[in-house]
Amino acid sequence: MTGKLFIKTFGCQMNEYDSSRIADLLNESHGLEQTEDPSGADVLLLNTCSVREKAEEKVFSQLGRWRRWKEDRPDLVIGVGGCVASQEGEQILRRAPYVDVIFGPQTYHRLPQLYDQVLNERKPRVDVSFPEIEKFDCLPPPRVKGPRAFVSVMEGCSKYCSFCVVPYTRGEEFSRPFDDVITEVFELGCGGVKEVTLLGQNVNAYQGTRHDGTRADFADLIRYVAAVEGIDRVRYTTSHPVDFSQRLVEVYGQVPELVSHVHLPVQSGSNRILSQMKRQYTTAEYEDIVDRLRGYRPDLSLSSDFIVGFPGETDNDFEQTIDLIHRVGFDQSFSFIYSARPGTPAAQLPDPVPASLKQERLARLQETIRSIAASISQAMIGSQQRVLVDGYSRKNPRQLSGRTENNRVINFPGPSDLLGSFVDVFVCEAFTNSLRGSLATEDTASAMIPMVQSSSTCSPD
Ligand code: SAM
Ligand code: F3S
Repeated sequence: MTGKLFIKTFGCQMNEYDSSRIADLLNESHGLEQTEDPSGADVLLLNTCSVREKAEEKVFSQLGRWRRWKEDRPDLVIGVGGCVASQEGEQILRRAPYVDVIFGPQTYHRLPQLYDQVLNERKPRVDVSFPEIEKFDCLPPPRVKGPRAFVSVMEGCSKYCSFCVVPYTRGEEFSRPFDDVITEVFELGCGGVKEVTLLGQNVNAYQGTRHDGTRADFADLIRYVAAVEGIDRVRYTTSHPVDFSQRLVEVYGQVPELVSHVHLPVQSGSNRILSQMKRQYTTAEYEDIVDRLRGYRPDLSLSSDFIVGFPGETDNDFEQTIDLIHRVGFDQSFSFIYSARPGTPAAQLPDPVPASLKQERLARLQETIRSIAASISQAMIGSQQRVLVDGYSRKNPRQLSGRTENNRVINFPGPSDLLGSFVDVFVCEAFTNSLRGSLATEDTASAMIPMVQSSSTCSPD
């Protein structure tokens, strides 16, 4: 059987990862090829997120558009997955009875069977249960698409922050077996992958069982992943401050493949708000982790998540967040206005902060981080950066593009046979969203293929 599959993904990297695994799975089971054009697809899937905003509204307005296509093509199969599906389950069918499949973040591995049932019986199927680890045993090995890959190592969350739906939609924390993760990384390395990003809602809460029954923590996992042949760069996201053990801090002194960049969500700089959020740490504890990390890596860059306008956040609370941002020097962070999520404890709290004030605070916070990020980029000018070349510059396809350790896109002239390898690049110029540079090694520069610019000095795009 063949056909085309279109997946629209809302939300975080976890959802992007799930969508790519769904595409691999349905390709293997039913030969479905992924397409970027929904109008030509036979199967339309929405992978939803309910962490923020009016997620349900977005889902139903998208489904409304697809409904018209289904009226013209009744064979079209429409599915809804992810956190909204997990929360709403069968309720989705009340408002959108033309949906064929509803699946949760922990049941997408059952899609081939659900799809068959829909094709054979032509009635909607719903499976939003939490069968946990079974999922990974049922997924095909990930397809290698370039030198970078994501590997999910743990799922779910048991922290129950007062504002967040994730523990309810994705279930409690559980870790994949240690040997399974290492095998997957090994296979990726054999396929030419050089950089892996270990993924999890709280990835550093990882506690995987080894074949001999002993437990490996996240520090062990990083050491073993970095030792896999071919893997030269290791990242992870998202980590939680309460799971940031001293063993994990020490890995920064032991594993050079681990990048000097950490995404460590802090949410607020006010201890009063942190306690109401049930984050389980204080700003002093957070900064202590940062200090210890910088003891091993003075150049460490830190990004974070912030929530602005949590119920009852005062000017003083907000100022403390701005102060923390300056003290830590956060780089390129994710910040959002608090949005009350149905079923979470914080949704019951009185919220006297006017929406306009929340907007103002968000703009100020983002401007503060933007200007710190800009000065970090400026300070990189003249430095030499290790870059994994993963494609061509978006603006100038005659130039190569890659990422620095601190996650900045850098474009530079160079021969296309460098694609997929690490190179050293001098940073020449810093822009808002990218850097421009030139290859650092004389040898590489002189070996350039004439088709692409062959200057080793900085030159305009
Ligand atoms: N594990 C991460 C941590 O340590 O906080 C969080 C993962 S959560 C899925 C991603 C981000 O969504 C959070 O860090 C938070 O900033 C944001 N978020 C979650 N619930 C939110 C809400 N109700 N309103 C606004 N932002 C929210
Ligand atoms: Fe959400 Fe807090 Fe977990 S933000 S994902 S409940 S760590």
